[in-house]
Amino acid sequence: MTIKTLPALLDKMWKDYVEINPLAQKVYDLLAKDDEQILNDHIALRTFNHPRLSIDVMAKPFLESGYKYMGDYHFTEKKLYAKHFEHADEKMPKIFISELLLEQFSPELNKIINRLVNEIPAGKENEFDFISAGRPWKVSTKDYQDLLKESDYAAWVAAFGYRPNHFTVFINALKKFSDINILNEYLKSNGFKLNSSGGEIKGSKDVCLEQSSTLANNIEVSFSDGKLTIPACYYEFAKRYPMQNGKLYQGFVAASADKIFESTNQGQ
Ligand code: NI
Repeated sequence: MTIKTLPALLDKMWKDYVEINPLAQKVYDLLAKDDEQILNDHIALRTFNHPRLSIDVMAKPFLESGYKYMGDYHFTEKKLYAKHFEHADEKMPKIFISELLLEQFSPELNKIINRLVNEIPAGKENEFDFISAGRPWKVSTKDYQDLLKESDYAAWVAAFGYRPNHFTVFINALKKFSDINILNEYLKSNGFKLNSSGGEIKGSKDVCLEQSSTLANNIEVSFSDGKLTIPACYYEFAKRYPMQNGKLYQGFVAASADKIFESTNQGQ
């Protein structure tokens, strides 16, 4: 079925996400059991700044569907750049797209990425649902290991391709768990492991945003020459606070997102 509308695209993204991230479905079910209203704060997507796959190319289906560019973020150490987009309907998830700055990596890494990108049929990246197309190239375990030496992020995108890296529960909309501390304790008491890089809670009321996340679950992924069990996706939780003008802060905090990216690192 050809996907041409935003609701169909978001639906496809969620189904694909819980399929490879069964932990997210378990967290969702746990909260849903308490009759919680589970809204998505944002969906995070990853790409490379290759001209065919840049943020601006990946953002097209969202811009065509009523989203607007609202802010950008720099992650110097991880060599990433990101933009976030918002829809006029506040119940729609924000879209956060990051790209790896390829020119800051070795010729070897660039050679692998260019080889992968060249496998994508011409123009396929412009299809409305390319962002949920999955992995559009063949990649070997050696490519994956070589990329991993320089960037966990590059290895993740090479292995998983185009699909959500994470969905994010909007904590404010929860009733029993509208405090991030209480939510975190509840998740841990139910056996979920949280990313503790930089502390379990990233950000604070002072920066109008608190975030936490599960660690990515490891899944078995097929490569062109074998299989590897590697970190896949994680589930995030975001609590937003009002700014001085009384409006809920809708942006992101680079220092917090920087640590959250590590939820898919090897050896967590
Ligand atoms: Ni996020």
